Amino acid sequence: METLLEVKDLKTYFYTTKGVVKAVDGVSFSLGKGEVMGLAGESGCGKSTTAYSLIRLVPPPGKIVGGKIIFEGKNILELSDEDFRKKYRWKKISMIFQGAMNALNPVYTIGDQLAEVFMLHEGLTKTEAMSKVYELLEMVGIDPKRARSYPHELSGGMKQRVMIAMALALNPPLVIADEPTTALDVVVQAQIMNLLKKLQREKNVSIILITHDLSLIAEIADKVAIMYAGKVVEYGTAEQIYLNPQHPYTQALLRSIPRLRGEISKLEWIPGTPPDLIAPPPGCRFAPRCKFRMDICTKEEPPTIEVEPGHIVSCWLHAKK
Ligand SMILES: Nc1ncnc2c1ncn2[C@@H]1O[C@H](COP(=O)(O)OP(=O)(O)OP(=O)(O)O)[C@@H](O)[C@H]1O
Ligand SMILES: [Mg+2]
Repeated sequence: METLLEVKDLKTYFYTTKGVVKAVDGVSFSLGKGEVMGLAGESGCGKSTTAYSLIRLVPPPGKIVGGKIIFEGKNILELSDEDFRKKYRWKKISMIFQGAMNALNPVYTIGDQLAEVFMLHEGLTKTEAMSKVYELLEMVGIDPKRARSYPHELSGGMKQRVMIAMALALNPPLVIADEPTTALDVVVQAQIMNLLKKLQREKNVSIILITHDLSLIAEIADKVAIMYAGKVVEYGTAEQIYLNPQHPYTQALLRSIPRLRGEISKLEWIPGTPPDLIAPPPGCRFAPRCKFRMDICTKEEPPTIEVEPGHIVSCWLHAKK
């Protein structure tokens, strides 16, 4: 499969008055064309910051301070801001922001808001743009007549469809969806997941789906990256991660998914809290909460080990003795 995106040792820090928050601290993964990657981990582990880095919109006081983001063979961190804005953002890499459906402008119809994307980026006239808007709405399962609706006239699920339409407007090869279903009920969640799956199949778009909910990722992801405290601790195909998880953190996360079928297993949560990213603990950042902790875990950073082809784990348990 053709590689679309390769992230290598990405580091994005926030320079706050309290200290340097190492929100993304050496993240690596790769994504093929048309693949869906799930990015999961507890709140505050750096998922959104990773996404903002990919689209080069890290808010101040944040800065990308290291690594490479190779997109279609080119390190996009080397492009000037202007080049990136003109040629990449929205055209090649777009994003559905966390909580964005509530950021639609209340005083304009959704049709006008969508049309603006085409007028601004492709220089279309209003009439030309509107015909594209109808197509887009149809594609995301909204009756084109709703173009005349204002955001408050739409349900949460429909507003999220509008955000998806906006992200797909310019046909980007990569769409990042940051918690696209968090505020929605389970039925609408499933519909949005089905829509993303359909778009991936029909348009061969690659998707990075960010969520803390591993059961959502299971439905559509080809690849899964598990983040903990600014690092990817395990990465592999969905099959490898769900059927053969190797990192104690991944194992604990998977045990915390409620099961609807099969025997009722006791829901387990991981005791303790994620570390402070200004002064993370030495060694493995998960060590303080890990029940398999060894001496070395609290002293030295764990090596990154390929336990089977394409399945990568950062954990001392897998180091050759
Ligand atoms: N603008 C900012 N200034 C300072 N620190 C920030 C800023 N934005 C994020 N952080 C810190 O960076 C870390 C990662 O945050 P991020 O929002 O990327 O996490 P997340 O995994 O997306 O969490 P959630 O699941 O809650 O959305 C956190 O410790 C957070 O406090
Ligand atoms: Mg987030």
